[in-house]
Amino acid sequence: MFDSGLGGLTVLRRLLALRPGQPCIYLADTARVPYGGRSAAEIRGIAAELTSYLKKQGSQALLMACNTSNALALDVAEATAGGPVVGLIEAVAKVVKASRVGVLATPATAGSGAYGKAFRSANTQIIVVEVGCPFFVPAIERHDLGSGALIEAAKNYLEPLLAAEVETIVLGCTHYPLLEPLLQQLLPSHIELVDPAIAAVDVLSEMLPAPLPHGADAFSGCRFLVTGDPEPFAAGLEHWLGASQKVEWVKLQQAG
Ligand code: DGL
Repeated sequence: MFDSGLGGLTVLRRLLALRPGQPCIYLADTARVPYGGRSAAEIRGIAAELTSYLKKQGSQALLMACNTSNALALDVAEATAGGPVVGLIEAVAKVVKASRVGVLATPATAGSGAYGKAFRSANTQIIVVEVGCPFFVPAIERHDLGSGALIEAAKNYLEPLLAAEVETIVLGCTHYPLLEPLLQQLLPSHIELVDPAIAAVDVLSEMLPAPLPHGADAFSGCRFLVTGDPEPFAAGLEHWLGASQKVEWVKLQQAG
């Protein structure tokens, strides 16, 4: 799995909750975070580079841990991975039953309309409102989950979804589940927040071989790789998942 940074850890935690000890490689492209303001061509080039790197490292299946890459480069990942690719967007679109759905996502994901397309292919009558949230990822990477500026930004992003009377809001960026407590405070209790990682991990686990030995340490099969400075990522891993793990720096051609 790969993401631009810490966000994909919200996908990893779902995977390890279901399959503690699952062998996996988590590649965080911290040299290029955030992805959300990048062009489609850049996002596609990055996805090809990261997927092919993971394949060389022995990865046999790819769990998309980044919605932005999922939205703009799923085909690239599928052509490069050499094994099954599980998308967050496709997985969650199959399980959400609401008829008015809001999506909070990066500007690139929201601009691609990928969530709207996926939901409409399952239900042509569905209303989907996609909102780009440029403020969120940089704040979360700084471990800011509740500053005044973040709360103001969140209120602005939620406004069009509340106006559209959505029943469900999809957290369409893997960083955003970390904002769930804040978003819950700002929303009426009848609006459900959905983390697509739950559906995607279910799809992936159907494909994986028999259950792992019981009682395994959740992180015992994980390798953590970063393209930028390993230290802030290791600190984030400790902070968000309580895991004290070795983080390796890797040099990728285009990551600088
Ligand atoms: N966490 C990623 C996503 O789900 C990328 C966010 C970013 O780097 O802007 O879209």
